[in-house]
Amino acid sequence: MTKEIFAKEYLPYVMKEMASVLETNASEKLLFDSMSYSLEAGGKRLRPLLLLATIDFFGEKLSKGHFQIAGALEMIHTYSLIHDDLPAMDNDELRRGKPTNHMVYGEALAILAGDGLLTEALHLVAVSELSSAQRVWVMTELTKASGAKGMIGGQVGDIEGEKTTLTLEELQAVHEKKTGALIRFAVETGCYLTAQPESIMTEMMTYADNFGVAFQIKDDLLDVLGDEAEIGKRTGMDEALNKSTYTSLLGVEGAQKALSEHYNKAVTALTTVKKQLGKTEEVTILEELIQTLMG
Ligand code: IPE
Ligand code: IPE
Ligand code: MG
Ligand code: MG
Ligand code: MG
Repeated sequence: MTKEIFAKEYLPYVMKEMASVLETNASEKLLFDSMSYSLEAGGKRLRPLLLLATIDFFGEKLSKGHFQIAGALEMIHTYSLIHDDLPAMDNDELRRGKPTNHMVYGEALAILAGDGLLTEALHLVAVSELSSAQRVWVMTELTKASGAKGMIGGQVGDIEGEKTTLTLEELQAVHEKKTGALIRFAVETGCYLTAQPESIMTEMMTYADNFGVAFQIKDDLLDVLGDEAEIGKRTGMDEALNKSTYTSLLGVEGAQKALSEHYNKAVTALTTVKKQLGKTEEVTILEELIQTLMG
């Protein structure tokens, strides 16, 4: 199965879970509209796809509980984008090919839509069709990945990187947290829910961690080289905000080299797991997903 067919087959279930939690809980029309606006604006849906593709990679049938966790993850990611775009943060006007949430609904509602998506995501995990032990595990890991030690912590580092020039090590730590943490969560949860042994888990985490950093390096590169119509957001924003990025620190070529290095590490780790599972001949969705970074 290609990643396009996989996405077409399973993402509608994830969308359904997200829509259902909004319909049940966001009874204020404006709030419902602003939350739905950003969720339905599109996006690559990388994180839910990674989670579902990891479960599928290990041969387990996808079920409602998986779609609910994938939906919660995409809701948290979407909230992070709404807040990331606010004037106090990156001050962006275009997201997922549309005006940013605050441009349409105003700042107050954009903040609340983000808060709503975060809270309802955790609600969705709490009521999901997984065992109670699994729900507690997912809740713990998802809050860790999106919280102060994860995505939020990384966002603070990113903002700090506007005032001072971060070292490459500091910047990598920011990328690991602001973007890597949710990507790691996706893969780690897929491994946990299919009860993978330590040896496989370690390789999969190498894949995920390198994917996470590579993904943000690519994002930094697209801010310089990307086509606005294609990526659905304004380019040149990082430079305008004087941000520390892979391209500002290493230049375009240096950033491309760093991207290749992380990509290679991720693919090597995945190949090791494929050998262990006797899947060497197969082109897996997990490979296809990371290959999108090299296009
Ligand atoms: C953008 O994420 C923010 C980063 C963490 C780099 P995506 O590039 O996954 O955004 P969407 O979901 O496709 O819009
Ligand atoms: C955003 O990073 C990361 C999070 C939202 C956590 P960026 O600020 O680089 O993302 P874009 O470029 O606005 O999508
Ligand atoms: Mg940002
Ligand atoms: Mg931004
Ligand atoms: Mg960016």
